[in-house]
Amino acid sequence: MQMIKTDTYKELSCLAADEIRELVNRKRDCVLGLATGSTPIGMYEQLAALYRDGCIDFSAVTSVNLDEYRGLSPAHPQSYRFFMNHHLFEHINIDMHNTYVPLGEDTNAERVCADYDRLIAQCGPIDLQVLGIGHDGHIGFNEPDDHFTPGTHCVTLNPVTIRANRRFFASESEVPTQAYTMGIRPILQAGKVLLLASGKEKAGILKKALTGPITPLVPASILQLHPHLVVIGDAEALSEFGR
Ligand code: GLP
Repeated sequence: MQMIKTDTYKELSCLAADEIRELVNRKRDCVLGLATGSTPIGMYEQLAALYRDGCIDFSAVTSVNLDEYRGLSPAHPQSYRFFMNHHLFEHINIDMHNTYVPLGEDTNAERVCADYDRLIAQCGPIDLQVLGIGHDGHIGFNEPDDHFTPGTHCVTLNPVTIRANRRFFASESEVPTQAYTMGIRPILQAGKVLLLASGKEKAGILKKALTGPITPLVPASILQLHPHLVVIGDAEALSEFGR
């Protein structure tokens, strides 16, 4: 595991964007595993700026997102499809047909999950998987459980997660209670995993995930097994790791 501590969120975002730029410039038809949440927003802004400056070409890139709320259509402003279009895809030259997010509006969980697993298998292994970390240690929407789930599945969200994501919705009752998420297998099979964390509130869970026992009760702890994990965190998020 490589751990990079930055002074600021801006620096974290620039370093993360550089990882993607380096990959896309080296392998123009790479597969990016992308994440939502507030943490990668700065990285997406940097990527849009790099594209405007002619430093990166996304025309042959495929993207596969981690997760989506069950029951939200792509037009819903809090859907992850909307998030990705708004924060990244509309600002770069990626072919929209090569961007994938689980189909939240389809409530047939079995079909959505099977289709997404098929799609991930067709795209080939993810070259670089970007991850944030939830307050309860979730990655994507792989919530704490008594086992790890390899494939795409429908999860009932943890009350902690619903509370954390409530800030994006008008009220807590509007936060969907279920989501579709990529499972652990494609994350572990990714060529490289980039775990991003910002802010004091992530310090405790990050320390637990990266140095505690590997357990499905802290889903991000499985990343300890990844042979090429890069953690980029700001000083607050990495405050429990010493200097
Ligand atoms: C969300 C997403 C995760 C994300 C996490 C942390 O629920 N499903 O992919 O990593 O929460 O979000 P944030 O970066 O806003 O703290």
